[in-house]
Amino acid sequence: EKGGYEHFMLKEIYEQPNAILDTFRGRLLANEGIIKMAGIEDNMKKFLNADRIIIVACGTSWHAGLVSEYIFEDLARIPVEVEYASEFRYRNPVITEKDIVIAISQSGETADTLAAIKLAKSKGAFVFGVCNVVGSSIARESDAGAYTHAGPEIGVASTKAFTTQITVLTLMALRLARAKGTMSSSDFRRHLIELELIPEKVKKALESDAYVETVADIYKDAKNCLYLGRGYNFPVALEGALKLKEISYIHAEGYPAAEMKHGPIALIDEQMPVIVIATKKGHYEKVVSNIQEIKSRKGKIIGIVTEGDESVRDLADHVIEVPDCSESLSPLLTTIPLQLLSYHIAVKLGKNVDQPRNLAKSVTVE
Ligand code: F6R
Repeated sequence: EKGGYEHFMLKEIYEQPNAILDTFRGRLLANEGIIKMAGIEDNMKKFLNADRIIIVACGTSWHAGLVSEYIFEDLARIPVEVEYASEFRYRNPVITEKDIVIAISQSGETADTLAAIKLAKSKGAFVFGVCNVVGSSIARESDAGAYTHAGPEIGVASTKAFTTQITVLTLMALRLARAKGTMSSSDFRRHLIELELIPEKVKKALESDAYVETVADIYKDAKNCLYLGRGYNFPVALEGALKLKEISYIHAEGYPAAEMKHGPIALIDEQMPVIVIATKKGHYEKVVSNIQEIKSRKGKIIGIVTEGDESVRDLADHVIEVPDCSESLSPLLTTIPLQLLSYHIAVKLGKNVDQPRNLAKSVTVE
């Protein structure tokens, strides 16, 4: 059942190239230059007339929502707010019929997310579900939706659900960008081709596994860890920190790299590993200067970089390479080494990777 892997989590990390492919199969038609998503086509008017999109989710799914905020705003020019379902539902939010609420949930059973969409529906908003489990409560409660095709995710730490959620949300943003005319047809086609290349690039990113394991060996006894990223990769930093916390029980925080100087920089000393996502294109020069600030305070730097990078390599203690790709798709690649890093650290510490203490696969309590 684990297909020769020691843990479900590792199996699911390795399933990502296929899971992403399965998620865009039949929807992304790069040769014809189109995206087909019934849930969008059938409700196109609503999407085009919407004032804004509100995304509600919890945990890793919330992080996928944050990534898609950058994508929807950048490509489709639709204002997006991303909300913790548990905060949204209890604060008397302003919701109207002109709002579209996207609920993201792997299990489709998360109690707070379900309650948030019931509230949104009662105020007349249109609810679109992005779920993995077919026929789940959130999928049934939504007015329309698009499934991720990740297959069953057994490991409590979410991995392939995250990357397939980003895939669905990217397809949606691209489809809407085309319909709204915020993207030229040549740009659109270029994005489709880039997205089609992602499964192969994820495979390449997975080749860093053995090296990531050696890095895990060096930092497994750290008491704290900081994850930094900017733009599209800021939510990836949050997700990297969550993955480490939940399975290795090491305290970790994700931060926008530029916010570091407003507080967290005080934590940095020679004991502090700092994982910095520093791929080319994403405010690269700025991230390099953030890395210099860490280095001058003797922090240990693990850089996630684009293949062939030299500037970060000169500064960092370790660099882990991912293939080059367009900036909006980079979270699908930069996430991979972070998943592997937390996996290997947890295994080396002898933790129960697939069933970490205090956590359940679907959180049906509020
Ligand atoms: C993290 C994790 C949780 C879930 C969260 C939402 O690895 O598994 O943070 O992401 O409980 O669950 P779903 O997506 O099922 O609504």
